[in-house]
Amino acid sequence: MNDLIPAPRHVHDYTGHFALGPETCLMAGEGTATTERWLRGVLGAATGFPLAAGDTAANAVQLYLHPMVTKDLGEEGYRLMVRHDTVHLVGGGPAGLFWGAQTLRQLLGPDAFRRAPLPDRHWRLPVTHIQDSPRFRWRGLMLDVARHFMPKEGVLRHLDLMAAHKLNVFHFHLTDDQGWRVEIKRYPRLTEVGSWRARTKIGHRASPLWEDKPHGGFYTQDDIREIVAYAAERHITVVPEIDVPGHSQAAIAAYPELGNTDVVTASTEGSTALSVWDDWGISANVLAPTDNTLRFYEGVFEELLELFPSEFVHVGGDECRKDQWRQSPAAQARIRELGLADEDELQSWFVGHFDKWLTARGRRLIGWDEIIEGGLAKGAAVSSWRGYAGGIAAARAGHDVVMCPEQYVYLDHRQAPGEDEPVPIGFVRTLEDVYRFEPVPAQLTEDEARHVLGTQANVWTEVMEDQGRVDYQTYPRLTAFAEVAWSALPAPAERDFAGFERRMSVHYRRLDALGVGYRPPSGPLPWQRRPGVLGRPIEGAPPNR
Ligand code: ACM
Repeated sequence: MNDLIPAPRHVHDYTGHFALGPETCLMAGEGTATTERWLRGVLGAATGFPLAAGDTAANAVQLYLHPMVTKDLGEEGYRLMVRHDTVHLVGGGPAGLFWGAQTLRQLLGPDAFRRAPLPDRHWRLPVTHIQDSPRFRWRGLMLDVARHFMPKEGVLRHLDLMAAHKLNVFHFHLTDDQGWRVEIKRYPRLTEVGSWRARTKIGHRASPLWEDKPHGGFYTQDDIREIVAYAAERHITVVPEIDVPGHSQAAIAAYPELGNTDVVTASTEGSTALSVWDDWGISANVLAPTDNTLRFYEGVFEELLELFPSEFVHVGGDECRKDQWRQSPAAQARIRELGLADEDELQSWFVGHFDKWLTARGRRLIGWDEIIEGGLAKGAAVSSWRGYAGGIAAARAGHDVVMCPEQYVYLDHRQAPGEDEPVPIGFVRTLEDVYRFEPVPAQLTEDEARHVLGTQANVWTEVMEDQGRVDYQTYPRLTAFAEVAWSALPAPAERDFAGFERRMSVHYRRLDALGVGYRPPSGPLPWQRRPGVLGRPIEGAPPNR
């Protein structure tokens, strides 16, 4: 039995091996270019072998697509047949072939994850026959680069890590109260003003500690093009999120007319002006429901559609506090003018506007589950984060859903109960808890369950200020998540967690070779601790399980 993660659908191992060497050729058929480039780049670096193009069938890795594989396993499926003298990697489509290449790298051993060859290594693939395809078409990771900016290099690195785990949707949380991270040419102040804050709270919002230096950063449009292209080369779709009408204080700081100017709340103690928020939580400063705001964001989305070819565009829609709309005479007048019942309907009107706007441009809106509250247009989809209920309601109403309940797959939540756990937030969600997460709600009929596009893990970065903190919270749990999203696992209680842990003992060595600062099974290393930084642990089991 091999140590593959995520576990493939069918594996039949034989005896013997194929030896990869300096003479081994890479034969690439039509439609295989992304995988050919990736394999030659990655395995070439790790082994030092040229993997030259060749046309001899012996001592070759042969890449091709085949309609039989498409028919049996779908576009994302693959067959990997390792024989003594040759390797056939056959994709149902270019993406399936690429996922098969990820499997091939794992079979070569942890050193295949390094970027230069170590001395005296032998590179062997076990003789095997693997047939594989994913359970879900949406296997996502959301990264919040608003609370803490992640420089472009770090984003590219996470795309590589996603690819190694066969994850294929990168949900890019680009804006929030604490920062605006994408260049919009027609509104330069969004990044001039909105992309940085004067100081940052260290730890949970109740913490008295501040880091008294500016924090910021943003991606230029060329950076975004590079990120999207890098992802596409790895068969990963980037879904951008611009959060409206709440979580918008950075934008309002840049363009005050976007806010409810008749009632605006100064954000920083002792100041009357609104600035990019330096604290955590949910800001009271939300967008004003004016035509000006709608036109402004249409301008933002116009530039965004040029940059992101994804079918789905995420508009947030979560946690919009209604205090200002209640207090603002202008917002109240708007509610009456539109014939709406209340502030909740105003939020629904706001999101509905962009639903129609995106649909007219051939895209689909996706938003957090709050967007179903006022009724949603037909093509829109929902990210179900407040437990399963939002996803169940949305699927029953005929909407597509992505399951990302905070009780299971919010990776900012702490992963062990110990005192040493750095900046402990939320419930204890262990590696095993994530492994036993079931994305499809049991309450759905088979027909309704077809609306579950898949699942996603979310990384919110209030207390993750650098690569080490993000790595620690994300790994190894994202590995368990990847198996949930890809593999055909049995019901949660029947899952072989001991077997997964056994395979993890090899996977940790892959992560080591990749330089991932994961949480070791024995607990945080001394330099992974954050003594004295206040978190907000919640005791007991999460509700809504
Ligand atoms: C969310 O966690 N507010 C989507």
